[in-house]
Amino acid sequence: MWWFLFLCLITLASASPSQCPPNLPDTCSCVCNYQCDEPVYLNIHCSTVPDLYELLSTFGNVRFFEIKIDKCEKPVQSLTKLPPFYTICLLINQCGLESVADNAFADISGLELLDLSNNALTEMPVFPHFPLLTYIAINHNLLRDFGESSESKNYSSFDGVPELTQLYFQNNSLTEITDATFANLKQLRTIDLSNNKLQRISANAFRDQPPILDLFLSFNELTYLEPETFRNTDILTVYLDNNRLTHLSANSFNGNKRLDVLHLQHNQLTDIAVGTFNDLEDVWEIRLNNNNLTSIDGISGNLPKLRKVDLSHNRITKVTNTTFNNFWELRLDLSNNQIESVAPNAVNGVYELILNNNKLTTLDGVFDPLEATTVATKDNETCHCTCSNNA
Ligand SMILES: *[C@@H]1O[C@H](CO)[C@@H](O)[C@H](O)[C@H]1NC(C)=O
Ligand SMILES: *[C@@H]1O[C@H](CO)[C@@H](O)[C@H](O)[C@H]1NC(C)=O
Ligand SMILES: *[C@@H]1O[C@H](CO)[C@@H](O)[C@H](O)[C@H]1NC(C)=O
Ligand SMILES: *[C@@H]1O[C@H](CO)[C@@H](O)[C@H](O)[C@H]1NC(C)=O
Ligand SMILES: *[C@@H]1O[C@H](CO)[C@@H](O)[C@H](O)[C@H]1NC(C)=O
Repeated sequence: MWWFLFLCLITLASASPSQCPPNLPDTCSCVCNYQCDEPVYLNIHCSTVPDLYELLSTFGNVRFFEIKIDKCEKPVQSLTKLPPFYTICLLINQCGLESVADNAFADISGLELLDLSNNALTEMPVFPHFPLLTYIAINHNLLRDFGESSESKNYSSFDGVPELTQLYFQNNSLTEITDATFANLKQLRTIDLSNNKLQRISANAFRDQPPILDLFLSFNELTYLEPETFRNTDILTVYLDNNRLTHLSANSFNGNKRLDVLHLQHNQLTDIAVGTFNDLEDVWEIRLNNNNLTSIDGISGNLPKLRKVDLSHNRITKVTNTTFNNFWELRLDLSNNQIESVAPNAVNGVYELILNNNKLTTLDGVFDPLEATTVATKDNETCHCTCSNNA
């Protein structure tokens, strides 16, 4: 996505006033995009606009790279069909949009990025056929669903835009991801649904998706995951932090060959079934801090690349298992638990072990000086154990 933002943000100050629409409000600037060549691409940025339609109707044949409206003085409420113009990026923010007519964008050609963030949309707009549109942001609205087809409606909002790669719907009121939500979108790379009210994700929601890079589900209301939801999907980074998960089933994430970071912090996990993380061949970090875990026995399996596990701020009382014996250069944070004892050899494979704010009285046998390099003890002073065995 970055080239987009890059292109949208980087502009040269070499304004071409002759080509900019005449009589722009003082709150708008019109500059030549750095791509300015034939055909000319301009960027318009308005901090506020007195009248959205009046402004847009002056754009006519000008070719824009980006049209960015930060705010409308008068709320528009219902976005009806916009006058025809050409732009690659269109951002209409803080205009009080409550609804978008199905044909609102029908006459806008070239659109690749559409951002309607900070409005009051309750329904997902229906996107007409935009062959080039890959990026949609509707952050901070009041969306309740994804506009899937239903018994009363034989089309879905995204039917016309199968090439979408990036979806940003942060800060809405979305409650559910169904099998149909992403079914027609086979190019998705980034899905950001953080800060919604998601309570349910259907087991096949991400089935048969090509590789997804980032899936943001943070700050939702998930209390459980269907065991199949993330099994055999292809997702690089999964953010499930700040939900209300209490339990993870065995094999929940099985078969994610490329998953590299798993964010499960700030949930209410009391236990992790043995095998939950089985065969995550590429995973190098699992974040489980700020949960209600009393045991860490479930963290096992073939995790050849795991280097970092954060289990701080849980309720672990003892470490008896040899779970952490078989890792290479693992950094393990067990601070802020209630650990009273660590069995000898339990953490032999750990390279950096953080144990501050526990109930340990002795560290005898906790680590093998040949392996561990840093141990933070029960207070929060880090003790750098320079092990003499190397001499
Ligand atoms: C979402 O809401 C949070 C909390 O109110 C805020 O910090 C964040 O900036 C918002 N993000 C967007 C994209 O609106
Ligand atoms: C949906 O239904 C309408 C009439 O109810 C019909 O005209 C239209 O062709 C249908 N569309 C699809 C994609 O089936
Ligand atoms: C987890 O701990 C929090 C804080 O003590 C508590 O409110 C919550 O009920 C606990 N959840 C479970 C599932 O035990
Ligand atoms: C470690 O925990 C697993 C799962 O509970 C158990 O099967 C295994 O016996 C434990 N190993 C030790 C040494 O306690
Ligand atoms: C030790 O930890 C406590 C609680 O986490 C914190 O308030 C305190 O500032 C820390 N002390 C040092 C020296 O870092």
